[in-house]
Amino acid sequence: MPDLVHLGYQFTSQQKEEYWLMMHQVGVLLVVLATCSTLTSASVICDKCNCKNNHVDCQNRQLSLHFNVTDWPNATDMKITEVRFDNNMLVHITEFPVQAITYLSLSHNHITLIDDAAFMNLENLTELDLSYNQLISVNLRPNIFKGHFRPGEYQSLHNLKILHLGNNALHSLDGDLFEHIPNVKVLSLDSNPMKLIDVVTMMALDQLHGLEVLDLAYTELQDLPEYILHTPINLKVLNLTGNLMNRAPVALSYSHALEELYFSENPVTVLDEQTGVNGLQHLRVLHLSFMDELTSIEAGSLKNLPSLKELYISHNKKLTKINENALSFRNGSEESEQWPPIKILSLAYNRLGSLQRHLLGHWDTLDFFDISGNAWICDCENQWMISNLLPSVEKINGYRINESVCVEPVEMRNRRLHELEVRHYHMRCLDSRGNHPEKDAKILVGVVIGVLIAVPLTLALVFLLRRTGFGATLFARAQYGHNDYSKAFYSRADSVERF
Ligand SMILES: *[C@@H]1O[C@H](CO)[C@@H](O)[C@H](O)[C@H]1NC(C)=O
Ligand SMILES: *[C@@H]1O[C@H](CO)[C@@H](O)[C@H](O)[C@H]1NC(C)=O
Ligand SMILES: *[C@@H]1O[C@H](CO)[C@@H](O)[C@H](O)[C@H]1NC(C)=O
Repeated sequence: MPDLVHLGYQFTSQQKEEYWLMMHQVGVLLVVLATCSTLTSASVICDKCNCKNNHVDCQNRQLSLHFNVTDWPNATDMKITEVRFDNNMLVHITEFPVQAITYLSLSHNHITLIDDAAFMNLENLTELDLSYNQLISVNLRPNIFKGHFRPGEYQSLHNLKILHLGNNALHSLDGDLFEHIPNVKVLSLDSNPMKLIDVVTMMALDQLHGLEVLDLAYTELQDLPEYILHTPINLKVLNLTGNLMNRAPVALSYSHALEELYFSENPVTVLDEQTGVNGLQHLRVLHLSFMDELTSIEAGSLKNLPSLKELYISHNKKLTKINENALSFRNGSEESEQWPPIKILSLAYNRLGSLQRHLLGHWDTLDFFDISGNAWICDCENQWMISNLLPSVEKINGYRINESVCVEPVEMRNRRLHELEVRHYHMRCLDSRGNHPEKDAKILVGVVIGVLIAVPLTLALVFLLRRTGFGATLFARAQYGHNDYSKAFYSRADSVERF
């Protein structure tokens, strides 16, 4: 550290010397002109960084030392509103000068330490980005955010609304962390090794009455404390992506205004009434993608979501089944069945074999519909997809059906759904024992061969029996049995035609 300080000083003073040497050589007039034209950038910080249009851009400059208050332009010379120090090697953050800064980003540095009241002079600071640093829990103290206390006035950092703390080394928050910044609306804690939301972290979060967006993605959480969503009555967005949850947290049922839930990349195996997401009156957007363990979405798992407009269930590589009653619900026992008003539905790149007509109330009112890349079973149960669904959705702008081919039964393998639709293809049924049509064919061949062998034998038998007298009865019985089989087969074929 002392070495770096020394180097930093040498560099700036040497620069200044050269600068003044040149000035003297050019003469008094030029000095005056130069002073006027460089008025806005006559500061250490604007020499090193890019100062333009109220913005200071100090990104990617190998900075390891934070600038001193005196290194900044005077607030009366240059009004600075946005400052970016991203991608440097800053370790220790000290006081900022009195400035009109509203946006300050210090992300992608090596920050471990921030002085008490470092942001005290930035009374209009609205968004502070401290993500991608090395902050640990004990170093993130409430006093960092302390402001000027003027008698009879509110805390100075009351304008801070957006705070990014993602990608640090936090496992817990100080219980009073938000004491000086109680108006934070957007808080991101993503990619910190939280593992669980402990009591003090809960105390801290409980101070944010106006919280609207909470990002807890990739924080190694297995669950949420049951009442975590009880206090923030305006919480609209919750990001739980990439955690270790094997069910949707019970805590969701205590939320008041949740509109968007990101729940992708969690190790859920089955979503059902208990483990699913249901009963959220305001939920508009739901993400359930990239769940490597998810195999089925059962009846009632996504029920009572009367505001749901966007549903993303994609890239769940083991998901073979979505129950036809997954989304539908009844309000009272009297009420007729209802579905959420879904406009955007992505079911892409799962392993779905079939889609049930009953899953949605209306398919043709979708704005976006993606069923690309599944493992369709092309039998008569899915005939409606080809005859009804695809023709009614293909006019939709956001209609995607890439890589949609049949994988079963064998004789349909690799046929494209779109091609079957265009040809008005009629798919066969698998029979009641779950046999595949091609096995039916084998049975038929077997029967024919049997009959071919049986006929001469029977004739011979009849010929022999005629002489003994009771042959006629036996002959009639054999005939009856054969008819019975044929009838069963043709009635199955009929039902295909009727569909
Ligand atoms: C800021 O000031 C302190 C004390 O005056 C000094 O030690 C430090 O090197 C200065 N930092 C920079 C970047 O000039
Ligand atoms: C903060 O904003 C207010 C209102 O726009 C303004 O009067 C004040 O000067 C600003 N503070 C600073 C330090 O620029
Ligand atoms: C979580 O979701 C929010 C809302 O879409 C998004 O802005 C944020 O980037 C997400 N966080 C992560 C780590 O993906």
